[in-house]
Amino acid sequence: MTVLPGLGLRPPHYQEVIQTSPKIGWFEIITENFLFSHGNARKVLRKIREQYPIVSHGVSLNIGSMDETDYAFLGTLKEFVDEFEFEWVSDHLCWTGIGGQNSHDLLPVPYTEESLDHCEKKIQQAQEFLKRVLVIENPSSYLEFSENSFSEKEFLIKLQQRTGCKLLLDVNNVYVSAFNHKYDAKDFISSLASDSIQQIHLAGHSNNGDHIIDTHDDFVIDEVWKLYEFTLKEHGLISSMIEWDANIPSFDTLVSEYKKMESILFK
Ligand SMILES: [Fe+2]
Repeated sequence: MTVLPGLGLRPPHYQEVIQTSPKIGWFEIITENFLFSHGNARKVLRKIREQYPIVSHGVSLNIGSMDETDYAFLGTLKEFVDEFEFEWVSDHLCWTGIGGQNSHDLLPVPYTEESLDHCEKKIQQAQEFLKRVLVIENPSSYLEFSENSFSEKEFLIKLQQRTGCKLLLDVNNVYVSAFNHKYDAKDFISSLASDSIQQIHLAGHSNNGDHIIDTHDDFVIDEVWKLYEFTLKEHGLISSMIEWDANIPSFDTLVSEYKKMESILFK
């Protein structure tokens, strides 16, 4: 897919997108909104897929969990991604559950040698099964493990190099985690290899003074827009999209954010 701006496709906007065919480069879906539905949700997705490139963004791959790879889940995912021929398939560097229980939270992994080996194995197994390169996102986080032997950027870079996966660079998550853990966001972004970055996420967050929560419920703040501009200067054109998952606004409001992103991307 050519480098283009995109938008997160969310349920309140499905019908408007189908009926009005807005000029949007591509959409990103939350995989699990469709994965286990064979009814109306998939019909909607088929209609939208006929008109737009789509990227599948998951929250259940559970790469960091000590649970073994869930091949039943991967089988369902493979059928889904093969049917819709998504441009790429992404998930997060995190764990979401253990013992078959899903926490529905993107929980941080320790940045240790043992954890690196484990995440590498899980990503390799998923890539081999799906027969495609995965795109892995840096999550936002609120705590760090005292056992860490690598920084977040070192861990992410080593994992990318060992697995050959691509990165989904969430610029807002870098801003949030850099604030929470007091590291330099620009240094994090500059350290990544340009050709490893497949996609960028942008989103709004909630600043509580001494910490930031990644709420995806508001406009992208000016400082994150500036960090986005910095990212493009460092790494060149990269497909970018906006995530807005709570207090979801009208589609027109989303489009105004999209246009702002588009003007920065192609400046
Ligand atoms: Fe994200």
